[in-house]
Amino acid sequence: MKIQFTETVLRDANQSLIATRMSYNEFAPILEKLNKVGYYSLECWGGATFDSCLRYLNEDPWERLRKIRAKCPDTKLQMLLRGQNLLGYRHYPDDVVRMFVKKSVENGIDIIRIFDALNDLRNIEVAVDETLKNGAMASGAICFTKSPIHNLEMYVGIAKKMEQMGVSSICIKDMAGIISPRETFELVKALKESVSLPIIVHTHSTTGLGLMSLLKAAEAGADVIDTAISCFSGGTSQPPTETLVYALKEQGFDIDLDLNSLKEINDFFKPLRNKALKNGLLNPVVLTTDTDALNYQVPGGMLSNLVAQLTAQGKLDKLDEVLRETPRVREDLGYPPLVTPMSQMVGVQAATNIITGERYKTISKEVKAYLHGEYGKAPGEVNKELQKKVLGDTEPITCRYADLLEPIFEKTKKELGDLAKSDEDVLSYIAFPAQAEKFFKNRDKKGDSPSSGTFSYSIERVD
Ligand code: CO
Repeated sequence: MKIQFTETVLRDANQSLIATRMSYNEFAPILEKLNKVGYYSLECWGGATFDSCLRYLNEDPWERLRKIRAKCPDTKLQMLLRGQNLLGYRHYPDDVVRMFVKKSVENGIDIIRIFDALNDLRNIEVAVDETLKNGAMASGAICFTKSPIHNLEMYVGIAKKMEQMGVSSICIKDMAGIISPRETFELVKALKESVSLPIIVHTHSTTGLGLMSLLKAAEAGADVIDTAISCFSGGTSQPPTETLVYALKEQGFDIDLDLNSLKEINDFFKPLRNKALKNGLLNPVVLTTDTDALNYQVPGGMLSNLVAQLTAQGKLDKLDEVLRETPRVREDLGYPPLVTPMSQMVGVQAATNIITGERYKTISKEVKAYLHGEYGKAPGEVNKELQKKVLGDTEPITCRYADLLEPIFEKTKKELGDLAKSDEDVLSYIAFPAQAEKFFKNRDKKGDSPSSGTFSYSIERVD
């Protein structure tokens, strides 16, 4: 049986371990090798990479993609996209989503992994359609979560609908690293039996289940697994590439990757990992196993956000109460998967409920928008009383929120004038206005070198 690998070192491993601070120049020398080694794909763009390029690295994300493409002509380049949210936190109108997808493919992307935080497929439809129109592969990703309403049947149902939409593959996306080996085996098997598309498994090592789960994924017939080269693996990152290649080859799987080439890649990344450990960018704690997510059912990134938020308010002693409140808020919101932006939304509301001493005394504007239906359809029933408290006599919307949004691309392009040199610039601006504007102005001043050496963590993303 054949199994293939997606290498995540340039995106998810980079994002999960070192807050996406690896610059193009740091990894450029290994790209030709990564291109030749035989990966199914290289996950190298999307997620937080775009934001980080503009905000911290003074890099044009589009130029980064073109440069990777030039050095990797033979391996599929992959990105992560949150459907109608693209790479940000709000819904964009369809003209922007279509242009973003079109330009991503034009600049070098082969596979776009597309998901919606609520698994509301209306929010990935347009991105999937445009991806396929431009001749790229659209991988439909199902956010895996655990709740009283999420079960095998529900996931199979989502996968079947995705297949009808025309996606090229189905990915089980376990952003929190909480899928167990048994659940992985059963889910992969069920999906293989119900859809005729390649099945991909994405998980994290956070809770220590990752390696076992990927082994079970392979045994159940998964076509592709996501792994990270060993020195950037483990902890909040993916399970190690070489270890799985070794173990699965020994079990008789047919694998294109060979350990000698992988060693060269690992040897290249080791000094980068060591540098990050030395300058503090990589905290050794995130490399260890953290089983709290198994008790609290909250992903690691969300837990550290809560700790940071409570510490800032001098209320860290309330952590246990907040962690008990989190599943109650999640229930009130109809059991959304705890992935960005839902993880932040649920966490902040739970903390607010405890700190103010009264549940929903203060309700964030995001939770209000959510209850109004602006993020899509909740997986389960939302708390009707809470919804009424927020909306009064107004009815929640039942249509796809983006149907209510006016096109903005051409208008924004006009407004930007000379500041934007290309349609790609306009998209950068729409996605991250303040960061893009600063970047454009810096770019116009010749010979400016990127700021480096300092960093600060922004809100941790869970994807
Ligand atoms: Co991930």
